Amino acid sequence: MTTITINRKPVEVQSEPDTPLLWVLRGELQMTGTKFGCGIAQCGACTVHVDGEPTRACVTPISAVGNREVTTIEGLSGPQVAVLKAAWAEVDVVQCGYCQSGQLMAAAALLKQNPKPTDADIDAAMAGNICRCGTYPRIRAAIHQAAAIEQAAAIHHILPPG
Ligand code: FES
Ligand code: FES
Repeated sequence: MTTITINRKPVEVQSEPDTPLLWVLRGELQMTGTKFGCGIAQCGACTVHVDGEPTRACVTPISAVGNREVTTIEGLSGPQVAVLKAAWAEVDVVQCGYCQSGQLMAAAALLKQNPKPTDADIDAAMAGNICRCGTYPRIRAAIHQAAAIEQAAAIHHILPPG
């Protein structure tokens, strides 16, 4: 038995310590928002956060998680994430949707580390997340839109009306 913290709650799992986190999430815990794509860290569909860092759950054994916090798409939340999700919907990013939970996890981590990313920053941060539907231009637009809304909110906060 291994205890891991998932979406701010300690969870006891029965899987062997060398079992990939993705298998535990989807198989044992029935948390199917995190997707299986390639299984070899090449597509990003399985991206979760481990202590805020985008991490490929398909190649991360649960023994390697230790006391660090796992966040999945089911637990991705907060004001900045709400802005990001709204931008995603407004830009109408999603096509088939299969890659999108991984894309959102990567984008949320990027904006946390870099609130005003350039195109090059976005391309670098998102390069490991493959979208077979080719939604890349809309992903980039949604990240820029979320960043702009956050910037405007920050300026408004510093300089209140009047
Ligand atoms: S399923 Fe993990 S990177 Fe593709
Ligand atoms: S939206 Fe279809 S694979 Fe990305």
